[in-house]
Amino acid sequence: EKGNYRHYMLKEIFEQPTVVAQTLRSYLRPAEERVALPQIDFDISAIDRVTIVACGTSYYAGMVAKYWFEQFARVPVDIDFASEFRYRDPVLNPGGLALFISQSGETADTLAALKHCKANGQVIAAVVNVPTSSMAREADLLLPTHAGPEIGVASTKAFTCQLAVLAALAAHLAVKKGRLSREEEAEIVSHLVETPAALNAALDHDDAIAAIAPLIVPARDVLYLGRGADFPLALEGALKLKEISYIHAEGYASGEMKHGPIALIDEHVPVIVLAPSGPLFEKTVSNMQEVQARGGKVVLISDAAGIAEAGEGCMATIEMPSVHPLIAPLVYAVPVQLLAYHVAVAKGTDVDQPRNLAKSVTVE
Ligand code: F6R
Repeated sequence: EKGNYRHYMLKEIFEQPTVVAQTLRSYLRPAEERVALPQIDFDISAIDRVTIVACGTSYYAGMVAKYWFEQFARVPVDIDFASEFRYRDPVLNPGGLALFISQSGETADTLAALKHCKANGQVIAAVVNVPTSSMAREADLLLPTHAGPEIGVASTKAFTCQLAVLAALAAHLAVKKGRLSREEEAEIVSHLVETPAALNAALDHDDAIAAIAPLIVPARDVLYLGRGADFPLALEGALKLKEISYIHAEGYASGEMKHGPIALIDEHVPVIVLAPSGPLFEKTVSNMQEVQARGGKVVLISDAAGIAEAGEGCMATIEMPSVHPLIAPLVYAVPVQLLAYHVAVAKGTDVDQPRNLAKSVTVE
């Protein structure tokens, strides 16, 4: 039921504080300041390599997870689109963990990649939203997201719930590998616990984001820029805009701009910059200024401090709550989802059932 919402997608965007909290509840023990994964019947501390395989939005959640696994657990991570992974004869040494991320748990390429890894001696973990799905059945370690049924074809709440599970898994692996002290684990848990409130604070800016949508509607092309763990959010923002508004959009790592895409910049190509305060802020802002120096029109998504420092000269700004860099990818999902949504509504497209797309891609 859509309730008071005009579309399932909007309802699902607004459900995120609740379903992320629900998901975190099964992966954290906040009172003890610990991460708590389901019983694992293999020695996770022996894992020395992680292979992540997924498609679409779930793949972008995997890209964020790569930053976390490497940063916290110091385990090397490979990540591939399932359709590429299947046919490139990947090296799979014993002792590896193969991690599959899927809302539906039925995506044909991801499922085939899972079976390939199983046949090649990998431990199989699956982050899935449908507990009765094929991937859930095949996994050695099932890590469910508790997003509830996702009806809108464009994935929203499943994505942030995937990130919540992956953050907990990265922290758990780091603890088991002796890479995190008790204090560091407690600190990670405290940041994750703040996520639902931060998502609510992000959702409070819905009207402001709707007001910016008309600036994007006339565009033929849009660029999204981000750095570090927020780079995949730039990719996700571009995917959301493409799939529901049919405006061409590309996500780039902000440092890559000057290696080619900056040639596209003029006043007709809006550039959405994701730049939360943190260690990478200044770097991203200097890339943003390179865009502005060439007449580019920027929408800056940052917190109050970031907007105070770099907001001048932007076409528009979208204010997010000030959050720890660990949870920024979850929080910054909200403005890119809402921006795509409002642009699509303004264009009059079929938001919940975009043309040419199906909710579950069960053919290769
Ligand atoms: C984008 C979207 C798709 C899916 C992709 C994978 O909004 O919904 O890109 O993310 O088809 O689907 P699952 O996660 O079910 O494997």
